[in-house]
Amino acid sequence: MPTDPVLVVHGGAWAMPDEMVEAHIRGVTNALAAGWRVLERGSTALDAVEEAVVIMEDDETFDAGRGSFLNRDGKVQLDALIMDGATLRAGGVGCVEHLRNPVRAARKILSESPHVYFVGEGAERFAAEHGIPLCRNEDLIIPREVEHLGKYQAELAQRDESHHGNDLFAPSGEDATISHDTVGAVALDRHGNIAAATSTGGTLNKAPGRLGDSSLIGCGCYADNESAAASTTGWGEPIMKLVLAKWTADRIAAGNLPEWSAQEAMNYLKQRVNGHGGIIVLNREGHIGIAHNTPRMAWAYKTVKKQEAGVVRES
Ligand code: GLY
Repeated sequence: MPTDPVLVVHGGAWAMPDEMVEAHIRGVTNALAAGWRVLERGSTALDAVEEAVVIMEDDETFDAGRGSFLNRDGKVQLDALIMDGATLRAGGVGCVEHLRNPVRAARKILSESPHVYFVGEGAERFAAEHGIPLCRNEDLIIPREVEHLGKYQAELAQRDESHHGNDLFAPSGEDATISHDTVGAVALDRHGNIAAATSTGGTLNKAPGRLGDSSLIGCGCYADNESAAASTTGWGEPIMKLVLAKWTADRIAAGNLPEWSAQEAMNYLKQRVNGHGGIIVLNREGHIGIAHNTPRMAWAYKTVKKQEAGVVRES
């Protein structure tokens, strides 16, 4: 018997200011609509999460694709992962600078490569050889983010002057008021399979070559039909240390509900490594979990009976 599809998306977890809420809700709702069209016509969860993430990569509201945060050198460097819960096949790209939609390249890796992960120039070469056009890094940069980086670096320089010995280029992301607009999606299709995808521009002012959690299997993204599909957002380094997406999926494999497991993941992130962020989770029974330990997280979900979107998820 066909399964009823379910789709959940997120667009970042942080202290999002009021004036940014509408754009975030619109963005996740658009992504939900695109992914849902895929599920409705009977296509796979994998196709659905790819399409949902592409919409958010194309939306400058988010830290993914064009409009992403800039690294220390003023460049966009993108990471993405997609994973199929039915086969455990995965495709990831890291530190790419010339791809508008890194999740499309990740999908090509999943579908057409014996490897799982490509970084930098090799990832871009793989994408180009598989029909994905490259763009200029400038095409991914928007004035808002040039200004954002300039302000941030000026603040750091000032802090450095008043606290001698601080590193001007200290790793960014520790502060929950700093935006974390990584995007992601998890889906259940009519065949009963689940999938997950996550895409990001990483943290503001990151060191060139710094790879976050988003594109690492089990950290920013995970999918296994035997447990759950999960996508995280937030400050990458703590999430990586806990392999948080897999940690959460394991709780579900042990018999816990996604809703409880997502909340536990956020408690664990805070208590164990003082991390902040958010997570979306979905199992094959169509149960969902959405949780964050930041003041806000953009999220949306749709089932055959219900659709909701918001920026606060009460536990
Ligand atoms: N979660 C996105 C990053 O830290 O790269």
